[in-house]
This record gives sequence, structure tokens and C-alpha cells, in this order.
Amino acid sequence: MEKSGAERRRGVVLVPYPFQGHITPMLQLASILHSKGFSIFIAHTQFNSPNPSSHPDFTFLPLSDHLTAADTSFYNLLNAHSIMNKNCKAPFEKYMGEMQEHVACIIYDSIMNFVDVVANHLNIPTIVLRTNTAAYMHSHFAVFQLLEQNLIPLPESQLEEAVPKAYPLRYKDLPLSASIEIPEVVLDFIRSYMDIRSSSAVIWNTIDMVDHEPLQKLQHHWQVPFFTIGPFHKIVPPELPTSLMEEDNSCLSWLDKQAPDSVIYVSLGSLAIINEKELTEMASGLAQSKQPFLWVLRPSLLNGSKEATEYLREDFQNKTREQGLIVKWAPQKKVLAHRAVGGFLTHCGWNSTLESICEGVPLICRPCFSDQNVNARYVTYVWRVGLELENVSERSIERAINTLMVGEEGKKLRQRAIHMKKEIEHSINSGGSSYESLNCLVDFINSLSG
Ligand code: UDX
Repeated sequence: MEKSGAERRRGVVLVPYPFQGHITPMLQLASILHSKGFSIFIAHTQFNSPNPSSHPDFTFLPLSDHLTAADTSFYNLLNAHSIMNKNCKAPFEKYMGEMQEHVACIIYDSIMNFVDVVANHLNIPTIVLRTNTAAYMHSHFAVFQLLEQNLIPLPESQLEEAVPKAYPLRYKDLPLSASIEIPEVVLDFIRSYMDIRSSSAVIWNTIDMVDHEPLQKLQHHWQVPFFTIGPFHKIVPPELPTSLMEEDNSCLSWLDKQAPDSVIYVSLGSLAIINEKELTEMASGLAQSKQPFLWVLRPSLLNGSKEATEYLREDFQNKTREQGLIVKWAPQKKVLAHRAVGGFLTHCGWNSTLESICEGVPLICRPCFSDQNVNARYVTYVWRVGLELENVSERSIERAINTLMVGEEGKKLRQRAIHMKKEIEHSINSGGSSYESLNCLVDFINSLSG
């Protein structure tokens, strides 16, 4: 039987940027839209491909990216970005040409800018997904303003000062280092990242209450509807698989044996790289704190050819066998929801930050790059649910862990984190801001398919 026009166009194509912190929210959004009755198509690079067998309800459209392993190393990401955008356009255009009758819209990570060219050519509406906060996106305007005023590079001595008209940020919180010359290729990337092109709307994995003012400020720049519907991971089924690496679930039974709120969970996300000195300082700080710890040492964490677990001397592992557990990749959302976990030493990637505050777990912030400094500033100074690590030394790590896990200050941070968790829960329940905005998004996509 011939389908009606409305039925034919219930397809939504989603195009993630192929790194863990971006793939996760895109798959979560796909699951949310599937639960609202849309057919889901995931157009993805072959590099870091999601596993189709974990998502039998979705149709996967692989795109030949011709990326080599060297192209995707951490230090080569800008290059990977331009190779992907060059090579993925033709296969994507072929798929969309064949499917366009069935597609209501394409939702894409704005780093994948080839999508806009194809969608315009075929006259398919697009929506941009922002996987980080509006506060972070807005902070780029402050950087461009400083550049226009010829104030970058700033002297190191000024980095602790507040940036005028960019409350609550200090110069050192800006997403690009203000104390060095910013290369033109980086600025080009940021300009492209900041551009929503011909998109009809923007979807945010954030919550109006935590990101209210920056969202309002950004509406002046991007005059299309905003759908602020986060936190995605609290709307989808908790077992939705999104990890590119295998999760080591053995840590959950280890956590079962620990006292409530006693364990400090340590992870620097999927991309950050540290050197051997920092690894050694972290190890000593954890051991000295005497607190139980669960530490994620992913194979690519260390700058060099060795894996972090290989590098850590056996005597550390023997000495702390009773105190802590090391894994290569944890089921992080389950870990943060475990009653034994009382704190999170994190790089403040947006997914990790959101996952922690949604469980009422206070944080110790050790930001590394991009949005992480902005997130850390909000955690410590605006929401006041975490501590800033002064530097990565044994002493400061030990002190921060003890302040958070056993001190009075830690108790207050935990109380505020629990309060924030409750407010976020309210936002996704009937009548809450994210709940209402999601209903509006569904209506909006339906209106595009008409
Ligand atoms: C990157 C950037 O670093 C980050 O700043 C940006 O906001 C998104 O892209 P990433 O380093 O991957 O992110 O950090 P984050 O955003 O925190 O995402 C990591 C994801 O991996 C989280 O969803 C976390 O739950 C998951 N994870 C991490 C695991 O499942 N297991 C682990 O052991 C560690």
C-alpha cells in the first residue's frame, strides 16, 4: 500500500562527529527520537564506527572516510576533520539522494560541515546538535573580541583576571589559550564550528536552568529555535550502549564492597593525554589520600609508547591493591550512580560533568582542553559543586581528595550537588523545561516533514 506523505517522511538522519564525547550524545538523541516514533538512520564514518548490532532499531549508513590511524591521533585532529569533510560528502550525497523522499530532516554535529552542502543541494532541512554547553559556545565570542582588540597574546600574569563582560570566566578559562598566538588554521576551525549555517534549529544537550543566560545570549547570534532537552542520558534507557571501548564491569562488584560515598572515581575521558610525570603525581596523590579509588587508565592516556598501566610501577599497584582498583574503561554512568562513589576527579568533558551532577556526585576539576576549562569554572564558581585542582602535584591531589571526601567543605559541595540533581530531575519530568522542549522538538520535526 502506498504510504501517505507524513508517514513517508518520518525518517531522521543523524551524523555524529566520530569521537566518544560526540558519538554518545548523538546516539542518545537517536534513541530519544526513535521512542517518539521516528525512523532513525545513522550516517557515520568508518573510523570509530558505532556497533550496528547494539542498535537493531537503527539503520546505519557507513561513509568511506579514508582516514589513516595517524590522521586520527590526538595531535592531528584538525587534519582528520578536513579529510573527513572532504571524503564523506560524496557517499553521503548518494545516500541522501536515494532517501530524500523519506527524510524529515538531518541532525548533525556542526563539525561535520559537509552535511550542510549536501542538504542544501537536495533541499533537506537540517538541525545542528550542540554536544556541549551554551556557556562554552558563547565564550568563543569573548576570544574573537580579544583578537579584534589585538589583546592576544596576553601576558601570563593576566590570566587569573576576569574577562570583561564574560562573567564568570577568567582569561585562563577561555577555550583557546589567550597567552599564545592562535594559529589561523585553529581560528578557521573555530569559525566553522561556531557557524550553524542554514540550520533550521539547534538542539542542546544541556538544561535551561544550568545554562540559562548563555542560551539567551546565543539566541541573539543564532536566530533559530533552540531545543534545550538535556540531559539526554537521563531520558534514554540506562542500558543504551554507546561506548566505543569495552566496559570493564568487574569494577561494579568491587564498588559493592565499599562504604557509601567513600570512593573517589578518577577518569580523564576519552581523548585527554597526560605525561609520565603527571601520571606519577596522580598515583602518589591517590595513594597518599588513603581514600578508596577507582581509576580509569585507558590505553591511550599516556603521551608516549607505553600504556599507563604498564608505566605505573608494580610497587604502586601492589601497595594500593587493598585501597583501589584500576580499569582500562569503566561503565561510567553506572559507576557514578553507585552508592559507594562519593567524588569524581575529572577532566570536565561535558558528558562526564553532566553524568556526575545528575547523580549528585561532587567533582575535582582537572580540565585539559576545549570546553573543559569553561565547564570547570561553572562547576566550581557558579554551581559550586566541585573543587578546582590547583596543580597536578601529589600534594594538591591528596589535599583536594581529602577536602572533598572527608572535610566539611566536601559535605557542603555534596549537598549542593544533590540539590542540583533534584532540580535536573524536575526538568525532565512532565512540566519541566527539558520535557516541554522535547515535545516542541517533536512537533517541529513533524512540521518539517509536511
Ligand atoms: C570530548 C572533549 O574532551 C569534551 O570536553 C567535550 O565536551 C566532548 O568531547 P571526552 O574526552 O570524550 O570528550 O569527555 P566526555 O565529554 O566527558 O565524554 C566521555 C564519555 O565517555 C562519557 O560519556 C563517559 O561516560 C564515557 N566514559 C569515560 C566511559 O564510559 N568509561 C570510561 O571509563 C570513561
